[in-house]
Amino acid sequence: MHISDQGIYYGDYLQLDKILSAQDLESEKAGRPAHDEMLFIVTHQAYELWFRQIIHEIESILSLFEQPVIPDNSPDFYTIFHRLSRVKTILQLLVKQIDVMETMTPLDFLDFRNLLRPASGFQSVQFKIVEAALGLKQPDRHGELYYISQLRPQDAAVIQRIEGRRSLLELTNEWLERMPFFREEAFWGQYAPIFPPADGAPHPFWSDYYQLYEQSLQANERGNLRQFERFFLADDDKQGKLSFEARRNALFIMLYRDFPLLHLPFQYLSLLLDMDELMSTWRFRHINMVNRIIGLRTGTGGSTGKDYLKAALDRHYIFNEIAGLTTFLIERSNLPVLPVDVQRRLGFAAG
Ligand code: HEM
Repeated sequence: MHISDQGIYYGDYLQLDKILSAQDLESEKAGRPAHDEMLFIVTHQAYELWFRQIIHEIESILSLFEQPVIPDNSPDFYTIFHRLSRVKTILQLLVKQIDVMETMTPLDFLDFRNLLRPASGFQSVQFKIVEAALGLKQPDRHGELYYISQLRPQDAAVIQRIEGRRSLLELTNEWLERMPFFREEAFWGQYAPIFPPADGAPHPFWSDYYQLYEQSLQANERGNLRQFERFFLADDDKQGKLSFEARRNALFIMLYRDFPLLHLPFQYLSLLLDMDELMSTWRFRHINMVNRIIGLRTGTGGSTGKDYLKAALDRHYIFNEIAGLTTFLIERSNLPVLPVDVQRRLGFAAG
């Protein structure tokens, strides 16, 4: 019996015939083979394969999150957390992968660069899908509709379809809004306010917190108080990506994250910040690589190259509102003591 008759064969299973014959060097076609074009193609293909995996993870995360409720005792939230952690690990790898690309010198790139116009990583549909699925929508992007201007219409339509779906940021907002903390008045029945209620505070806890926050500020930080009011108290602010309720609950999770029930939600919020940090680290390293390899020349995709990429780096943070909440933390030792019922609900046996 032949080895090939014994069930699944490695190369067939992975369809290596397709993958390993997908490196067509333009420089070879032009009759002047450039050694480094193989590296250039393989690196981009490796990125695209990892983007494929990231999208697979994010798709499943969005589907789980789209359920009307995710009960605390269901495994779904942990699954979301676990898969997003995997995305984080892949992103760490993708940042490192720039090291390999950077072994190509500017002169080596010039051997084939002009043959690639107008193709560019800027046309990576999967990269834009990842951005959109996480929550980067058109109005928040640098340069209006520029980001899809270099795509074929069917590819642009794919991105716009994803933008029409609720993103991880929007679903996180809804999940935060569903947190029961401040909904149930009875839950807070035994709360003993520290100060007389502040004007416009939505809840005795927030009234106290506002005043504790005020006390924690340095003289040159007084401006933060206006921001606190805008973020947590003035219910008519529609500017942000997160709603008031979501912001308050996210801050509450950050403040009381030592309670068992809040461990996983806190780690989940931290993971979102990791996403932004890793995406921006990739962007930063990509810019430096671009600078090193093409200097101030325009990109093959026709953009201003480095300038476009820097603007995208500055603007394309997705979870920056969650990161910004750390502005409003106070020292742990000054936190209001939660009522026994609330403590019990959050998982500590409170006697
Ligand atoms: C020799 C190496 C590289 C150079 C010189 C380079 C250059 C550029 C430039 C100049 C742009 C701006 C758009 C344009 O006008 O083309 C760009 C965008 C982009 N490149 Fe690269 N790139 C390189 C490698 C890579 C690699 C390995 C990837 C991995 C997928 C990649 C992915 C992207 C993406 C996703 C964008 C769009 C970024 C955004 O919109 O924020 N690039 N690249």
